[in-house]
Amino acid sequence: MKSVGIAIIIVFVIAAGVLLYAWTGRYHIGATVPHWDLTSKFIEMVRDRSIVSHSEDIRMPDLDKADVRSRALPHYQEMCRYCHGAPGYAPSEFAAGLYPSPPEMTDGHLQEEWNSARIYWIIKHGIKMTGMPAFGPTHSEKELWGLAALTEQIPRMTPDQYEQALEQISSGHGH
Ligand code: HEC
Repeated sequence: MKSVGIAIIIVFVIAAGVLLYAWTGRYHIGATVPHWDLTSKFIEMVRDRSIVSHSEDIRMPDLDKADVRSRALPHYQEMCRYCHGAPGYAPSEFAAGLYPSPPEMTDGHLQEEWNSARIYWIIKHGIKMTGMPAFGPTHSEKELWGLAALTEQIPRMTPDQYEQALEQISSGHGH
């Protein structure tokens, strides 16, 4: 019983210490100071497990993938490429100051890591405290699936193909 009491006191003292440290304002909240390695690993684990678990039962509805994908192009160009880049377009300057930094969309790494359902979930809900916005509140299911399908397609598009597809769809459909 005695050791349980001591353990409770130790936990309490640590918690009080953490709270006091936070309250003093010594912690640097700026985006210019990276997390400790351990903190980053913990946050990544929380993020990855959350995305996997919340997107488990999601299946793409019966949509014309090519159609929703091309309709998503002007939206991507307007909303995503400033942070993630696009074939022939570098991300905007402000994206270099984001922490965590937005992953590059064209190199294919992100698409290897996440399947369509997970990409759809991320686009719909965003990711807390990262700058990745939630597009669910402002976009229809069809548009969200279009953005997910386009995200998957982007590493396979050349700058010319991207530009042509954009021109084609923009002449018939504005954002
Ligand atoms: C203001 C900047 C910003 C905009 C705009 C933005 N994102 Fe993001 N996005 C981020 C950041 C930052 C992350 C990284 C989050 C992290 O590290 O957990 C991210 C992560 C992602 C991821 C998960 C990738 C991964 O492996 O972590 C996907 C998929 C994604 N964004 C797609 C999109 C799409 C599609 C759009 C447009 C509809 C978009 N984003 C718009 C900043 C942005």
